[in-house]
Amino acid sequence: MRIVVLVSGTGSNLQAVIDAVLAGSLDITIAAVGADRPGTGGVRRAADAGIPTFEVDFRSHAERSDWNRALTEAVAAHEPDYVVSSGFMRIVDEHFLDRFPNRYLNTHPALLPSFPGAHGVRDALAYGVKVTGCTVMIADAGVDTGPILAQTAVPVLPGDTEETLHERIKVEERALLIGTLRSLAAEADAGGPASDETVGA
Ligand code: GAR
Repeated sequence: MRIVVLVSGTGSNLQAVIDAVLAGSLDITIAAVGADRPGTGGVRRAADAGIPTFEVDFRSHAERSDWNRALTEAVAAHEPDYVVSSGFMRIVDEHFLDRFPNRYLNTHPALLPSFPGAHGVRDALAYGVKVTGCTVMIADAGVDTGPILAQTAVPVLPGDTEETLHERIKVEERALLIGTLRSLAAEADAGGPASDETVGA
């Protein structure tokens, strides 16, 4: 199974996937890592691991649709079975989603449908929930919507800050993403769902 990983930030979850592949505990190929801006930590981590990288800079495209098309082509060039958004903080459009139907995975640091968006950890903390967590899902055109594949709960501890809580969530998020990829790879080895079927439905 081939994946392309999209990142916008430090890529610590990507690093966990790279480490699992290198350790032989996750039998997939990371075909490439792409970013929506130059100079991300995620692209640096991939390059250090010898993984092909690409950057499709959102800010250098006048129209969002032009950027979406350029991103779609850059990803498709690596012929992935799945595309993984790992801290990729841009919404893709139907052009992208139609090219990878039910094949675009996303991770989110909250128990969706609670606390979607760019500040899932901060929003959960501000609301005062006692339990939050992480979600892996099939992404659609909405903000952190789409069919949920897996979730893990994480307790909010007294004195937690956004940083301490996010770090504990990320430990679970990495395991959840790797476990989900392992299941999808096993499914693909066994013949896999047709690309127009909903994975996990
Ligand atoms: C992860 O916690 C991911 O779930 C979150 O960004 C972090 C990226 O961390 N994504 C979202 O909030 C998407 N709505 P990383 O760059 O260190 O892997």
